[in-house]
Amino acid sequence: MNIAIIGSGNVGGALASRWAAKGHRIFLGVREPGHFKGQALTELPEVAVFTIPEAVRQCEAILLATPATAAIEVAQSLGDTSGKVVLDAMNIIMGRGPQGFTNTADAILANTASRDVVKCFNTTGFNNMKNPVYEGTPIDLFMAGDSARGKAIARQLALDAGFAECYDAGGNDKFQLMEQFAFFWINLAMMQGLGREIGFKLLKR
Ligand SMILES: NC(=O)c1ccc[n+]([C@@H]2O[C@H](COP(=O)([O-])OP(=O)(O)OC[C@H]3O[C@@H](n4cnc5c(N)ncnc54)[C@H](OP(=O)(O)O)[C@@H]3O)[C@@H](O)[C@H]2O)c1
Repeated sequence: MNIAIIGSGNVGGALASRWAAKGHRIFLGVREPGHFKGQALTELPEVAVFTIPEAVRQCEAILLATPATAAIEVAQSLGDTSGKVVLDAMNIIMGRGPQGFTNTADAILANTASRDVVKCFNTTGFNNMKNPVYEGTPIDLFMAGDSARGKAIARQLALDAGFAECYDAGGNDKFQLMEQFAFFWINLAMMQGLGREIGFKLLKR
């Protein structure tokens, strides 16, 4: 699949590497082609660099992994996203986010044409995106959004990144819950001192 990645830092860089290793073509959409975080990714043959609208134009799926404060500006910079799936990995941390919105996915929906916006890849640390396996067992991921097509693509890309499963947490009304869940991980890892090398796994019987 052709995947545009806007925000090639910790999260975008980790997922670009994982997806490239699975044979996906990665279109990094950057503000300054000569100067951006994750420049080393271009050493991978599957990765190329474009302006943001040019990356989006060539791709079926678009990962947004910029700071939440830039969510509105980034959504408005994508060009035409009609019919494309937008994967939102952003989190509002300590109230720093798009003005007038309680989560980034709603800000994206209000500022671009795509109706297929899925919140995914936001609930765990980028270290777990680089390596989701704990003593031989891959951890799980979670997603939310109204678009069934968007969630099918998000789930496949989560599996391709090495996660065991990507559980469906519900529709657009669960966007905020997904950010709260992300903050639960951040709380355990940072505030409660467990460190980044922790991950969630759903058990069933
Ligand atoms: N870090 C984690 O473990 C983690 C886990 C889950 C979710 N998240 C969320 O994922 C998002 C990214 O986090 P990160 O740690 O990957 O951040 P990061 O390493 O600081 O990377 C941010 C990226 O966003 C780009 N960017 C910033 N403003 C932009 C704008 N206005 N337009 C286009 N691109 C812009 C930067 O571009 P330049 O290269 O040009 O500077 C950079 O590539 C955040 O919302 C965060 O809450 C983070």
